[in-house]
Amino acid sequence: MSDSASPNTQATGSHLWGGRFSEATDAFVQRFTASVDFDKRMYRQDIQGSIAHATMLARVGVLTEDEKDAIVSGLTIIGAEIDAGRFEWSVALEDVHMNIESALTARIGITGKKLHTGRSRNDQVATDIRLYLRDAMDQIAAAITHLQTGLVTLAETHASTIMPGFTHLQTAQPVTFGHHMMAWYEMLNRDYGRLMDCRQRLNQSPLGAAALAGTTYPINRQLTAEILGFSQPTANSLDSVSDRDFAIEFNSMAAILMTHLSRASEELVLWTSAQFQFVDLPDRFCTGSSIMPQKKNPDVPELVRGKTGRVTGNLMSLLTLMKSQPLAYNKDNQEDKEPLFDTVDTLLDCLRAFGDMVPAIAPRSAVMYEAAKRGFATATDLADYLVRKGMPFRDAHEVVGKAVGFGVSSGKDLSEMTITELRQFSDAIDADVFSVLTLEGSVAARNHLGGTAPAQVLYAVAQAKTALAARSV
Ligand code: ARG
Repeated sequence: MSDSASPNTQATGSHLWGGRFSEATDAFVQRFTASVDFDKRMYRQDIQGSIAHATMLARVGVLTEDEKDAIVSGLTIIGAEIDAGRFEWSVALEDVHMNIESALTARIGITGKKLHTGRSRNDQVATDIRLYLRDAMDQIAAAITHLQTGLVTLAETHASTIMPGFTHLQTAQPVTFGHHMMAWYEMLNRDYGRLMDCRQRLNQSPLGAAALAGTTYPINRQLTAEILGFSQPTANSLDSVSDRDFAIEFNSMAAILMTHLSRASEELVLWTSAQFQFVDLPDRFCTGSSIMPQKKNPDVPELVRGKTGRVTGNLMSLLTLMKSQPLAYNKDNQEDKEPLFDTVDTLLDCLRAFGDMVPAIAPRSAVMYEAAKRGFATATDLADYLVRKGMPFRDAHEVVGKAVGFGVSSGKDLSEMTITELRQFSDAIDADVFSVLTLEGSVAARNHLGGTAPAQVLYAVAQAKTALAARSV
């Protein structure tokens, strides 16, 4: 036998795919192509998938019961070793799949080499990521529910607490703080819905697609799908190994959710500033400055706002990664994991930060009340009052505009003007006007579904409590 024809274990190292190779992988290429440093976080799902696969192979007669039992107990021990931090990961073994498979063979001998019958790393990795993401989604769903519960509680407590509502960040009309909290709740409710939609589309089993075309063994894909808790097997083997839509969809949901959290963060940053002073955040969510002793910076909301960028960036990475990839599997797909994992970690951290912070938000009712008064927030109420007295809305708008002009020059809110002062602008104004010019009257008057009236906030709170209680996660 010539050197090059001999099975050169030295040259091909420990690669499980090394049979056709006659020289060792370049050390740099080995490191460059390896994914174990990051995909090892899917070890539980990899073992779970392998156990399901081996169980199915035994059921259809490809493995004996004894072989299956040896594989299952070997994998279980390996799982426990990894849990305990006693497993040696090897970059030479490239990825999580081959590290675990090699360890299995080292532990149980030749039977370990039978595990990969009728499957490929391509359907294996597709299965692992789906299982991993499904677990992560359930944690994320619980974290959203926790945060929403906090918002509902805060909204209930502050159903009648008045604050200025803004458009263009200028005082527009008075609203209730509870109404504002329920607006945040609604944003998150849509995120939760998107997460559930995505979970349902993700929950199919690619196992059995093998490398791309399926396999010649009499596999039972229904069975592995069932064992792994998937709703059904995927329908097309080519698509199964190449599809990463679920990752993109998940990351889109995450980017929208983070965008929502960044908007809430921005409001908290504004509201805790010396200029607004609308709310207090406990010290534990803030930090000081090393040079300015008076500072209490809202670091937690600022950081959540900042982290929105990386989640949106991860979405761009995934979309760009998949763009123009021909069917079926390509090594490009290995690049899906780091952005995906980063999104999961960031989202869980930010939801946790908000979930802890929201119940601790302490609104300063008196400050918000004064701010609402300062901005002529009841100007629309005065216009509506004149319309009720028979004036066309455009004329009423003009009259109130003049009254506001007078308020600006005299330093008075509409509710602080005398009846004589108000009547300079229209003699349709009578003494009954003062009930509509108060902030309480203004919010109470918007008493319809979705309005800011305290009664409507309490209605929304009750609806939300029912919806949250009906959730399974
Ligand atoms: N580490 C690979 C990945 O993450 C596993 C699949 C590799 N398959 C292959 N044919 N090279 O995608």
